[in-house]
Amino acid sequence: MKVAFLGTGLMGLPMAQMLAANMPIVAYNRTPGKLALLQASGAEIAATPHDAIRASECVILMLSNAVAIRCVLLNDQVLHSLKGRTVIQMGTITPTESKAIRDEVVAVGAKYLEAPVLGSIPEAKAGELIVMVGAEPEDFRHNSDLLQHFGSEPLLIGPVGTAAALKLALNQLIASMTTGFALSLGFIQRQGVDVDLFMQVLRESALYAPTFDKKLKRMVEGDYANPNFPTKHLLKDTDLFLAEAKSSGLNLSSIESVRHILQKAIRMSLSEEDYSSIFAAINED
Ligand SMILES: NC(=O)c1ccc[n+]([C@@H]2O[C@H](COP(=O)([O-])OP(=O)(O)OC[C@H]3O[C@@H](n4cnc5c(N)ncnc54)[C@H](OP(=O)(O)O)[C@@H]3O)[C@@H](O)[C@H]2O)c1
Repeated sequence: MKVAFLGTGLMGLPMAQMLAANMPIVAYNRTPGKLALLQASGAEIAATPHDAIRASECVILMLSNAVAIRCVLLNDQVLHSLKGRTVIQMGTITPTESKAIRDEVVAVGAKYLEAPVLGSIPEAKAGELIVMVGAEPEDFRHNSDLLQHFGSEPLLIGPVGTAAALKLALNQLIASMTTGFALSLGFIQRQGVDVDLFMQVLRESALYAPTFDKKLKRMVEGDYANPNFPTKHLLKDTDLFLAEAKSSGLNLSSIESVRHILQKAIRMSLSEEDYSSIFAAINED
């Protein structure tokens, strides 16, 4: 089977490289320069999404958002070339967006699965992403071997929309927990408490989460360069969570406050930096 891989950004590139090491793939990216490494790994390169899809049976999308998916896939020429193929959408979008895309894809005679992932570039390189799948059980079974290249145990969450919802719930936690940790760290520093002692107590407590240690060094050193997951994407996912949850009746004031902090980091020109730059927005001199 040949797979078309559309979108070789920060996450798409290592995921496509993992596939290319195991099967024939044809890759497309809006900015062709980002395909050079993949071409060197033996992947075929397509000049347009249409060319990539025509040459393949399955189409994997790792694009920024629903707008990018519409630009690349859901225009007349490309959409109709999907007939008889399977589309696996792996970026982070809302359940509502995912179901709308499914409806358009299914209407032209293709199958659609959503398979958002938890984990970042190191996990993508190691094939250790957590792959959450929203699909019909039969489509999940049929594509499980393919998805195992990204993570050893792809998990069927339920119908299309459920995996997208779970992914947003998890990213809401990333934003909220990182903000909570950054606030306590800033407070500790201002109160003259030793950071090592703070971490020692935290690590021994039920409050500890491994992500705190992963972000500690960046926050203490103010080094947000070379991100795996940039601040702009966490703001995007926070906005997606808020858009999907606004009619849920849940109290959203905590995540709305987190959003203001992320927006402040963006105003501080930290958009392309690691999302631990939340600390800089909380802990301004
Ligand atoms: N980075 C992570 O740790 C991580 C982890 C889990 C999930 N995700 C999710 O995975 C998705 C991809 O993330 P990423 O970090 O790889 O993002 P990224 O580095 O910004 O890559 C985005 C990709 O989308 C393409 N794109 C954006 N707008 C487009 C448009 N209008 N038309 C055509 N192509 C367009 C980009 O093409 P160009 O190269 O031409 O810009 C690039 O291939 C996002 O939904 C993100 O939230 C990311």
